[in-house]
This record gives sequence, structure tokens and C-alpha cells, in this order.
Amino acid sequence: MAAGAPDHILAIAPYQPGKPIEELAREFKLDPANIIKLASNENPLGMPDSAKSAMMKAVTTLGRYPDPNGFELKAALAARYGVPAAWVTLGNGSNDLLELASLALLGPGLSAVYAQHAFAVYRLATQARGARHIVVPAREYGHDLNAMLAAIDQDTRLVFIANPNNPTGTFLPAADVVAFLQQVHERWGDKVTVLLDEAYNEYLDPELRFDSARWVEQFSNLIVSRTFSKAYGLAGLRVGFALAQPRLTDLLNRVRQPFNVNSPAQAAAIAALDDADFLQRSYALNRDGKQALCAAFQKLNLQFVPSYGNFVLVRVGDAAGVNLALLKRGIIVRPVGADGLPEWLRVSIGLPQENARFIEALTAIVGAA
Ligand SMILES: Cc1ncc(COP(=O)(O)O)c(C=O)c1O
Repeated sequence: MAAGAPDHILAIAPYQPGKPIEELAREFKLDPANIIKLASNENPLGMPDSAKSAMMKAVTTLGRYPDPNGFELKAALAARYGVPAAWVTLGNGSNDLLELASLALLGPGLSAVYAQHAFAVYRLATQARGARHIVVPAREYGHDLNAMLAAIDQDTRLVFIANPNNPTGTFLPAADVVAFLQQVHERWGDKVTVLLDEAYNEYLDPELRFDSARWVEQFSNLIVSRTFSKAYGLAGLRVGFALAQPRLTDLLNRVRQPFNVNSPAQAAAIAALDDADFLQRSYALNRDGKQALCAAFQKLNLQFVPSYGNFVLVRVGDAAGVNLALLKRGIIVRPVGADGLPEWLRVSIGLPQENARFIEALTAIVGAA
């Protein structure tokens, strides 16, 4: 114990969020209206109108606590995914569910397995519980599932898999994930939980899509997490959900704050879930924007990791220098040195005009180097 907190808490390197537009405007004396933010994998279309009107109606009820059990949203999710409502846990963003899983399953003397360059919150959630980290070297910037299986130890209680992964954008085909789930369950039974984090699932091309709710029926040690923050456009409202069988759902609920998802968020999520048109527009815009960015990187001879999410990881060499030059031009992207990728930047896919402005700026910066 030092400074009144346990050593494992003092050792936490805090999460580095994307720079807010207002902060950049103040720092470089820029007009906020001319700043573009491609740094937090948000939906450039913003929030769907359907969700906005549902949210505005719910705002009138804010004098009361939200439904602690999220009855209507859970019912809608249960119908969508073909599982009992009792298998659904709601979260304050899917980040909350990652925390809940680590709270329920980890502690000192236990360990979590996750991949190098995987989503930073796996490290933070493990660290906050005082648990041991088993970080498995990445293979081609993605998860090496065989090595992850082999790395599971007697004290392992949780394995985090991001599919697609952030910040690398890599993807594991359904057959590989199922084989992994089968092997983990055969070898370890319910002792080891796999948390399959599918925050970017809705951006997958149709031929790659799969139904992970069926895996939840098959594997009693599986939690699948999803979010309304990305393709559904509700990042600011903070809504995510997990699907798992009753044993795991019960564990998550033991450590969940009773009112963790507010009522406007619940109402907006129900509306967004039904808004197939908005989801399709988000997907198509992202697919086209990704093509434009990757074509530009190719032209500039910059290495990039083919992405299955709503962002692309690109190797620019002097990432700090290129990032600063972009900031001066009013463009915010994400340096990923803290993820072990010091030469790379992660760029979220924006509106066509935002992507074009980023490409133009990058071409000027890299071309001048
Ligand atoms: C892989 C992954 N999982 C989970 C999250 C958490 O998102 P949210 O809490 O907004 O659902 C993110 C956010 O960027 C992510 O990239």
C-alpha cells in the first residue's frame, strides 16, 4: 500500500481518449467548426432521428430513476437475437460490461488472457482487479487463438477476444472463433469465461456475418458483448449489452449498479435497434470511406492493416510528428503508441468530405517529409 491506494491501482496507466474538438480549438486557436474528429470510432452520421425522438420523449421522465431491469430494451434485444430476455445484461456502454465481467470473475491471484494490441480496456479492467495479465503476442496485428488457448493457466478466469479488434481492425472468421470456444470449453469447462467483444460487428460485410447468439446457447462459458455506440450512432448515450446463459448473467448482475443505463438511453436504443435503414446507411458509408482511405494509403505507399471496423490503422513512421501536423490543420486522429504501436495512427472513417480533407492533409504532410 502506498499513497492510500493498492499498488495495482497506482500502477494503472489511464485510458487515453481521443482529443475533444473544444480542447484542440483552445490549444491551437482554431475555429471548432473547422475541426474534424476522426479519433474515437464514432458514427459520422451522428445519432439516428428515430432515436432522437424516442430520447426526447423519455427526457420528460428524468425526475424518476430508469427501469433498473431495462425490461423493454431487453425484450427487444431478446426478440432480435432469439434468446430469453433473462440472458441479456445491459451496460453503460459495452465498456461497462467488460468491467462487470472483470469485477465478477477476476481478483488478486487470478489472471486474464488477452492479445497484444487488443482493446486497451482489457488491460485496464484486469489491472484494476489486481489480477495477472497474460498478454499473448499478436499474429499479423490480430489475435493468435492457438497461442491464446495455450496461454490459459490454472488461475485464468477470463479471456478477452475483440472481433473485430480495436485499434488494429483485424477479424477472426466465425469458424476460428467456434473452434477456439470449443477447445476452451472442452479443456476448462465453466472455469474459464470467454468474453467475445463484438463492438464493430455491424460493420462486417454480409458474407462475413455470423450469429454469435447461437454460440451463447452452445457454450455456457461465453459472454458476447455488443454496443449501440458505433453503427447505431449512440456513443454519447452509453448503451451496450451482453448475451450469456443464466449462470454468467447472474454473476454480471451481482456487480452491476442497479441504474446503470439511463432512461433516454434505453428509449433511444430501442428505437435505433429497429432502424434498419440507418444501420444500412452507416454500413455503406463506412465501407465506401474505408475504401477511399485504403486507396489513398496505397498511393502514398503507407502500410496499413486491412480493417473490418470503422477505422484504419496506418503506419506513418514518425507518428507523433505526423499527428502534430494533422492537429495544426484541425484534424484529430488517434496515436496508438500506448497500444504498442508507436509508428502508427488510427483513423476513424468519417463523412466523405472529412475523409477527403484528411487524405489531402496527410498527402501534404507525408509528401513533404
Ligand atoms: C473493441 C471495443 N470494445 C468495446 C468498446 C467500448 O465501447 P462502448 O463502451 O462505447 O460500447 C470499444 C470502444 O471503442 C471498442 O473499441
